[in-house]
Amino acid sequence: MLKGEIAAKIELVPLISFNKGHVPIFCEIHDNLMAVLRAHQIPVASSCQGDGVCGRCRIQILAGAEKLSPPNETEKFLKERHKLQPNERISCQTEVLGDILIDTAYW
Ligand code: FES
Repeated sequence: MLKGEIAAKIELVPLISFNKGHVPIFCEIHDNLMAVLRAHQIPVASSCQGDGVCGRCRIQILAGAEKLSPPNETEKFLKERHKLQPNERISCQTEVLGDILIDTAYW
């Protein structure tokens, strides 16, 4: 396998790193951020179980914000309603497209 092919393959396997509390995990491109975290037993606050209603699943994006899907209309509404910081995303409405570094207040 050529060096460029290896680099391209690595890009297909996003790495989610944590500021504290958890070891890094790999996922698939377009994986839902909240779903992939929960699949690895990493807690994500929620009272609507990912239906895009509660706004509690907010995650701080410390690096790689450009490697996430753009906010959809549901997320735009929730970010405004719950006054999220610019670097916070509604994880149940967000797809992972590349490497990111994330955090929450409760990890
Ligand atoms: S889990 Fe409720 S809005 Fe994301």
